[in-house]
Amino acid sequence: MSDGLEDVVAADTVLSDVDGRAGRLIIRGHSLDELAGRVSFEAAARLLFDGFFEGLPDDLTAALGVARVEVFAEVAALDTGLLDRTPIEAMRALTARLGDGDSLEVALRLMAAPAVFTAATVRAQAGEAPVAPDPKLGHAADILRMLRAAPASKAEIDALDTYLVTVCDHGLNASTFAARVVASTRAGLTSAVLAGISALKGPLHGGAPGPIIDMLDGIGTPDNARTWIEAALARGDRLMGFGHRVYRVRDPRADALKAAVRRMGAGAGRLAFAEAVESAILSILKAHKPDRPLDTNVEFYTALLLESLAFPPSTFTCVFAMGRVAGWIAHAREQLAGGRLIRPASRYVGPLPKAAA
Ligand code: ACO
Repeated sequence: MSDGLEDVVAADTVLSDVDGRAGRLIIRGHSLDELAGRVSFEAAARLLFDGFFEGLPDDLTAALGVARVEVFAEVAALDTGLLDRTPIEAMRALTARLGDGDSLEVALRLMAAPAVFTAATVRAQAGEAPVAPDPKLGHAADILRMLRAAPASKAEIDALDTYLVTVCDHGLNASTFAARVVASTRAGLTSAVLAGISALKGPLHGGAPGPIIDMLDGIGTPDNARTWIEAALARGDRLMGFGHRVYRVRDPRADALKAAVRRMGAGAGRLAFAEAVESAILSILKAHKPDRPLDTNVEFYTALLLESLAFPPSTFTCVFAMGRVAGWIAHAREQLAGGRLIRPASRYVGPLPKAAA
């Protein structure tokens, strides 16, 4: 048995391929470089959905705008009980209010849900009124507008679009596998997406970027990096934003996001500081684990990019879900189209009943 199912192939997919030795990500026949910073999130989602839905429009922008307006009605259910929860728990609870099904309409509402519910939750938690979606805007532009109640700059919209495209799909990662397992039972897309959100939430998967800001703030200045990092490793802590199950070299998404932060032109000092911390961590991890290549993963520069866009760290995993939801839905549809019920076996290692012993 492979611990953590490492290297186990559990599905055939046309959606994406992660080559962990070459540090390469392919999404439906395109390398990440061809997509990140070049196409909108709607175009990337269209690419993923192609062939999996009847009646898919050429451009998803308008249909996704309508879906944002439709799901905004659920924001009325944000009561004090939900506002005491973390943004991802509140977002997940509101998403669970959406009806299940396998249609394109259900899929579009699920694509809209993390964006609309996260923006509304953050504003309500700050005592501000949620901002209704503008269906005429692109998804990234409207996310920033719903969050801030003001239009964002083109550079900021482009940076968020780059992020959403960069994380839209990534092979059979933990949340996508969870979504496919649920889809394989024919429970419906809403159930599959809720499984994806739940798996993404953990710090070993999509929950890492918030703690990365805590780490950068804890380190404070480049001079302090080595002492801080060595103390963290001596405590047995993992350094968030480093290491990956599949990549044995640098995660290509880290560079796509670093370039996006640089293009946005915000926080040049913060970027230089993060680069200094990154290089200290890489050299210390090399000495700490000489047999295990540990390099920068997607989450390190995610943290910087989302911080520059003024997302509170508590929402970083929700923003990840805003992009990855497209992959979860496409994988769920692919699973439904051809896959059998996913039901692996386990090996019993417990005691035998007395009579059989
Ligand atoms: N910091 C310190 N040590 C690490 C790190 C890290 N970031 N990552 C792995 N190691 C060590 C482990 O402690 C382990 O050491 P051991 O053999 O002495 O126990 C060894 O390297 C191998 O680690 P595994 O846990 O077996 O690697 P796995 O493939 O299971 O884990 C994971 C990958 C979860 C991403 C891991 O590298 C990690 O915890 N990273 C930090 C969290 C993080 O950045 N998560 C986001 C991942 S990207 C994504 O999901 C979108």
